[in-house]
Amino acid sequence: MTLGRDGTEGMDGTSSSARMPGGTSGHHAVGQPARIISVGGGKGGVGKSFMLANIATCLARAGYRVIAVDADLEGANLHTCLGAPTPTASLADFVAQREDDLGKLVFDTPIPGVRMIAGTHANLSEAQPTHLRRVRLMRGLRRLQADFVLLDLGAGVHSAVLDYFLVADEGLVVVSPEPTSLENAYTFLRAAFYRRMRLAMVGHGVRKLVTTAMDQRNESGLRTPLDLMREIESLDGADGARFVQTMREFRPRIVVNNVRTAEDIKLGFAMSSVCRKYFGIDAEYLGYVNQDDDVRLSIAAKTPLVEFRPKSDASIYLERIARKVAAGRTPSFDTSSPSATQSPVKSPVKSTTQTNSSGSGRCV
Ligand SMILES: Nc1ncnc2c1ncn2[C@@H]1O[C@H](COP(=O)(O)OP(=O)(O)OP(=O)(O)O)[C@@H](O)[C@H]1O
Ligand SMILES: [Mg+2]
Repeated sequence: MTLGRDGTEGMDGTSSSARMPGGTSGHHAVGQPARIISVGGGKGGVGKSFMLANIATCLARAGYRVIAVDADLEGANLHTCLGAPTPTASLADFVAQREDDLGKLVFDTPIPGVRMIAGTHANLSEAQPTHLRRVRLMRGLRRLQADFVLLDLGAGVHSAVLDYFLVADEGLVVVSPEPTSLENAYTFLRAAFYRRMRLAMVGHGVRKLVTTAMDQRNESGLRTPLDLMREIESLDGADGARFVQTMREFRPRIVVNNVRTAEDIKLGFAMSSVCRKYFGIDAEYLGYVNQDDDVRLSIAAKTPLVEFRPKSDASIYLERIARKVAAGRTPSFDTSSPSATQSPVKSPVKSTTQTNSSGSGRCV
C-alpha cells in the first residue's frame, strides 16, 4: 500500500494516481497541475499561517494563481492572516460531506491572485476527515485551477496532518529557535518519515518492522531509520530498495521563523545536518525570517507583512523564501509590465526567466 501523490493509498502497492478517474468537477487545471506546498512544523504558534499568507501573497504578485487552503480544522485562522472575512463555506463542509466539489469552496481574498478555501470548523468533535474523505480531498486539491495550492497544516502529528504533509509536492517545516519548537519539529519529521515508509513498504513483515521501529523504546534495537534500513535490506531486497528510494524522495525543507541572533540563523543548518545523519535524508534549509514586532501589527491590520511593511527585513526574507518555492515554475500571468499585471504568460521560456530575476520590485 502506498500513499500516492494524489493522497490515495493503493491496496496493490502502486500509487493510484495512474488509476485516477477522469475529471468531473469542471475545476481541472488547464495546463500544468497545481503544485501543492504544505506548511507544517509540529508546534502551534511558530508562524505557519503567517508564513503561508505571506508566501501566497508573494507568489500571486509574481503572476502565479494561488489557492491557500486552511487544513487546520481545529484552529482555523488563515482567512484572518489573508484579510478575508469569516467565511460561510469552508473545508468543514467537504469534511462533513455537505459539499463534494472543492472548487465551489474557493473564494476570493482581498489580495489579487490569492483565493482560498477556509477551514472554519463546524463540528469540533469530528474536525478531521475520515481516511476516505482525506483521499478525496487530496485528489480534489490537485485538480484545482491554480499554479500553487498552499496547505496550512495544524499543529501536532495527527495522521491527517501527516498525510497532508506527505502528499504535497513539497513540505515546509517551520521552526522557532526554541527547544520546544525544535523538539516538536523533530517529532513531526520522525512521525512523517515513518508513516511515509510504512505506506511505501509492500511486505507484511517489513511493514510490521517499520511499526516496531516507530516505538522509540522498541526491544528490537531499532533506534534510527538507518538501523531500520539495514534490517529491511537483510529481510527483503525489494522493500530495501524501496526504502532507500523513498528516503531519497522524502525532502522536507526547513524554515526558521522568529530569528533574533546569528545563532538562531544557524539552527536551520544544524537541523539539516541532523536530518542527514539521523534520517539519511536531504532537508534543505530554505531560509529564515527575523522576529519583527510589525508582524503582530500586520496581523491586527489583516494584511500580510509583505504588503503592510514591504521594505522591512522580514518581508525581504519572506520574498526570498517565496522565490525558492516558485523556482522552476512558470507563472500564469506576466506581471513585468505595469499595464499588464494580469496578462496571461505567452512564452514559458520568457516567463521562467522573469520568475528567476530579482530586484525588479516584484516579490518573486
Ligand atoms: N517573524 C515573526 N515576528 C514576530 N511575531 C511573529 C513572527 N511570526 C509569527 N509571529 C507571531 O506569532 C503568532 C502566531 O503565528 P501563526 O498564527 O502564524 O502561528 P501558527 O504556527 O500558524 O500557529 P497554529 O499552529 O496555532 O496555527 C502571530 O500571531 C504573530 O503575532
Ligand atoms: Mg496556524
